[in-house]
Amino acid sequence: MFPGPVSEAKSFASSSAAASASREFTREPKLSYGASGSGNGLYHGENLATLARLEPLLRGTVRCIYIDPPYNNQERYAHYHDARSHSEWLAAIVQRIERLAPLLREDGTLWISIDDREVHYLKVAVDAVFGRENFVSTIIWQQRTTRENRKVFSNNHEYLLVYAKDAKGFRQSRNQLAPTPEMLSRYKNPDQDPRGLWQSVSANVQAGHATASQFYLLAAPNGRRHAPPNGRCWIYSERKMQEEIRKNNVWFGKDGNGTPRLKRFLSESSTGLTPETFWPAVDVGTNDLAKKHLLQLFPNETVFDTPKPEALIHRILHIATNPGELVLDAYLGSGTTAAVAHKMRRKYIGIEEGSQAVSHCASRLKKVVDGEAGGVSAAVGWKGGGGFDFYRLSR
Ligand SMILES: C[S@@+](CC[C@H](N)C(=O)[O-])C[C@H]1O[C@@H](n2cnc3c(N)ncnc32)[C@H](O)[C@@H]1O
Repeated sequence: MFPGPVSEAKSFASSSAAASASREFTREPKLSYGASGSGNGLYHGENLATLARLEPLLRGTVRCIYIDPPYNNQERYAHYHDARSHSEWLAAIVQRIERLAPLLREDGTLWISIDDREVHYLKVAVDAVFGRENFVSTIIWQQRTTRENRKVFSNNHEYLLVYAKDAKGFRQSRNQLAPTPEMLSRYKNPDQDPRGLWQSVSANVQAGHATASQFYLLAAPNGRRHAPPNGRCWIYSERKMQEEIRKNNVWFGKDGNGTPRLKRFLSESSTGLTPETFWPAVDVGTNDLAKKHLLQLFPNETVFDTPKPEALIHRILHIATNPGELVLDAYLGSGTTAAVAHKMRRKYIGIEEGSQAVSHCASRLKKVVDGEAGGVSAAVGWKGGGGFDFYRLSR
């Protein structure tokens, strides 16, 4: 378990100023960009060493940590190698998660991308850091939609392991997903009700636990009488139902002869959706989509092999954070987490040891500040603004 009560949360803007002032880091003016004092930081360096120095500034301040470490899949990519022994890989990642955990706020969460090869070992190891009771869920992300015919099984999904500093509290504090256009399209206003859009829902329920007062012939305003269907009863007693009819909360169809249904107003309903654990490509994109986005951004750079789609990170940050809160990614890669956090008006810290910290992360963030239109920009209404500071560990 990580150490107990965290120190008082500091404003990250002041942490960033402290980082800038600290002798531990050197700010690179040529690689920093946009408005100063943003509190957003890109750190070019090995993450364990960088985290050790950031720890006094960040302890208890981070709302969401997302990491997408090398999966130990024995591949050698253009920008990093992903081939270690199992025990070496596991020890290294657990060491870093132990460093990351105390940075979380009391309502903070850690999200880890991982695939089939190491997920089960990693789950057991991270349980030991956060406590099994703070494991929230395993999310399945459909990371490809094409079939890989050379393998025994075409592996089309990866996982996100989700941990909370306090899983019970996270149930209250997490954000729901926005309703789909299909859900919203069910709300209409055929009777020009001044209370606005509404949808109708059944006015009868299963008779199992009913009381005698729920069985009656319901008298509609046009005099027609309606019996509940077999095995069902009315949701309200006769008196309450007549009261609801008087308040114009019951709908009998356009001609007044239809089966009675209750009006549910959009303005009064909680339309948010509880996030599900299967995240299809159609909602959050694929690896290929993310690569295409990077190719548009950097047509002349060697392609970064393992980027995450912006929509995937958007969903994580939407559920786990609110505007202005701090997000941290200690394996920044091509900079996706920072780019999405920036567009969603969160603060961020990104750490990357490879030269992609400059070639991809800083260049990508510069484009974002200038109003880059790809990825989730349209969905979040991103037009540009803000800034970030680029740091290196001082020698
Ligand atoms: C799978 S990629 C992350 C991709 C990223 N999510 C994106 O969307 O572009 C992993 C990254 O972690 C970096 N990395 C691996 N070990 C690291 C370490 N110890 N410190 C800092 N960065 C590290 C690698 O250089 C690589 O860029």
